[in-house]
Amino acid sequence: MSVIVVQGYCPLKGEVEIQGSKNAALPMMAAALLHKGTTILKHVPMIQDVFCMMGILESMGCKCCLKDRTLAIDAREVADTEVSREDGKAMRSSIIVLGALLGRCGEAKAYYPGGCSIGSRPIDLHLEALKQMGAEIEEEGERIRAGTTGLRGTAVSLSYPSVGATENVLLAAVRAEGVTVLTGAAMEPEIEQLCRLLSAMGARIEGIGTSRLRIEGVDSLKDTTYHVPGDRIVTGTYLSAVMAAGGEAVLRKGSAEHLGCVIGTMRRMGAEIAADGDAIRIRMEERPRAVSIETSPYPGFPTDLQSMAMVLLSVSQGRGDLKETVFEGRFATAKQLHKMGAEIIIEGTKARITGKGFLNGAAVQACDLRGGAALAVAGLAARGETRITRCHHIYRGYEDICRDLKSLGGSIQREL
Ligand code: EPZ
Repeated sequence: MSVIVVQGYCPLKGEVEIQGSKNAALPMMAAALLHKGTTILKHVPMIQDVFCMMGILESMGCKCCLKDRTLAIDAREVADTEVSREDGKAMRSSIIVLGALLGRCGEAKAYYPGGCSIGSRPIDLHLEALKQMGAEIEEEGERIRAGTTGLRGTAVSLSYPSVGATENVLLAAVRAEGVTVLTGAAMEPEIEQLCRLLSAMGARIEGIGTSRLRIEGVDSLKDTTYHVPGDRIVTGTYLSAVMAAGGEAVLRKGSAEHLGCVIGTMRRMGAEIAADGDAIRIRMEERPRAVSIETSPYPGFPTDLQSMAMVLLSVSQGRGDLKETVFEGRFATAKQLHKMGAEIIIEGTKARITGKGFLNGAAVQACDLRGGAALAVAGLAARGETRITRCHHIYRGYEDICRDLKSLGGSIQREL
């Protein structure tokens, strides 16, 4: 198992180009199943989850060709409609192919994705919505078998703005008979980007960017080429690295327009941040100021940057607190930060953090994707050496976090 080794406590200075968005690319890949032709996605991140989704599409009969971050998906032949147990467990977001398979083939077999270290992650909202659209769903243990004689457009209302459930309804509605009006939809930028890809493919969607989407089913779609936008969570990760270690940096191809709440919070903590064109410039001279942060669905502070916020509050001056409202188990990384000297008290969904200005290098282990990335950021703000094991979690979502943080001047490398 590889280890990431970080030598910390020196200011960063450099420039980095932000990879394509994992959480935009994955549903776009599922969308390709809807079209009996070719969908080309550019600026695709070279990460484990993309490779896993390619494997799922290929197991169904699609042909995938990924070269220089351009992914061509030929979905003319979709012979199989089953997501294997192995793929289903490897990547929870594999469940978003359900809606596309029902729309394309009228059937789908998948496995309950199951919980992980950030929470139980049920899929009741997905299944309930698909049933309302005319899908018959049988659950045998952890297997899910879905079928339909034809999805029908209808009014669907989500009781929680689930990103994945919104994606499943969108993908199912594009090929359903009639009009689907989805209310209570998630408004994350990745949903807007999926809607724009689908529209480019010939889908008829109104209300893009809002929580009320009207989708008119169509019989066919067309070959499309689409550019995957920069990853806003990776952008937030590297902004956090500069805040934690101090220094200055330029992030290219980030997505400042989708990080309003995050950049506002970082400015409250003392960062100087300016966005011009496709570049975000950040400078951090003092230790971060302690603030109160609460995660919430977009446009609130993203839960995916909650672990990063825990690191920033741990190296801040003063006492801050962090409330997690999206995933009930997303404080696992606190235990690892304790090993680095962080003073974090977890009370239910709230973390009370007393900033110490710095951390101490230690041997820690990644518990999940974003928590692992936060430990790399913590290592840059720590005196001495930090060794991060189980770093395979990080490579599910970051092309090469060592390469990127090194280009910002960080002393970090991967020991194979
Ligand atoms: C997506 O997960 C992202 N993953 C997550 O990013 C992100 O944290 C999350 O949205 C929230 O923004 C991808 O896009 C691949 P949800 P998803 O459905 O769709 C509950 C990362 O690190 N819920 O919006 O699974 C659920 O338990 C990952 O890149 C139900 O109760 O998130 C959670 O508490 C981690 N029933 C909340 O809703 C359901 O049927 C939000 O989940 C579905 C969800």
